Amino acid sequence: MNNPDLIQLLNNYRKQQKCLIGFNVNDIYDLKAVALAAEEANCPVMAMTYPPVVELNSSLLCKKMVEGIQPYTKQPIYLHLDHSVSVDMCKQAIDDGYDSVMIDGSQKSLKENIAMTKEVVKYAESAGVLVEAEIGKIMGRDVVVKSDADFLASVDDVKAIVEEANPHIMAVGIGTSHGFTPTTPQIHFDRLSEIAEAVSVPLVLHGGTGIPDEDIQKSITMGVAKLNVGTIVHTTYMKELYNEISKDINGAYPPYLMKDVIPRIKNVVLDRLNAVNLELQY
Ligand code: 13P
Repeated sequence: MNNPDLIQLLNNYRKQQKCLIGFNVNDIYDLKAVALAAEEANCPVMAMTYPPVVELNSSLLCKKMVEGIQPYTKQPIYLHLDHSVSVDMCKQAIDDGYDSVMIDGSQKSLKENIAMTKEVVKYAESAGVLVEAEIGKIMGRDVVVKSDADFLASVDDVKAIVEEANPHIMAVGIGTSHGFTPTTPQIHFDRLSEIAEAVSVPLVLHGGTGIPDEDIQKSITMGVAKLNVGTIVHTTYMKELYNEISKDINGAYPPYLMKDVIPRIKNVVLDRLNAVNLELQY
């Protein structure tokens, strides 16, 4: 099956105020949970691999993994490389058949960020692969910020990278964080609105685990067409697996444990799909 064109899909989503969710996956089991949830929710999904997953397994194996899981759903599973700071890793993923790559130059100067993004966009063009770039910073993990100016995406910078490097979609730092957040993230909707006014590319919201549903829905009406969700998926996977293993460490046999764990991961994925697809809620 050939999946519908992702670049076109996200451009349409921005216009229609719809949103694709990218789920960070680590192996065949959480990927299978994502596929089963897509089938149940009847909507396309994106499976995203962080660089450590690619370093451990190779982008080719990740691509084969998605090909192998695709028959579990009639819905497209788009494969995306998430937060790659390496141009070479993006190029390899493009060569290995990824649908989409993110070149994350957000920790670099604007000039370097534009140059890296330009190089990946040029490389991706003939393969028809989508390129995501980032301006501003997503807080959490090793990204420490002291003031708004440290993370908030500047409208001028977003305009500059879109005009000079032509990425297909733009991740913007507007106050969200990766991972569980001790307090509700304060999203700068005023800045999101200014950015959406300035550029017509679909916008991407990172840090989906900690964002309240009403803020997700509001951002979708303001130009966000892709939402990234990771932590809630892998922590559910790890906690549920740990609980199952703890019951009988010597009898722990992976396929039997995963039979119970996969549906629990699937429920979390489904819950997030329902948060963006209001008409699916039941
Ligand atoms: P969370 O881990 O907070 O869900 O964010 C995921 C993400 O933004 C990946 O790029």
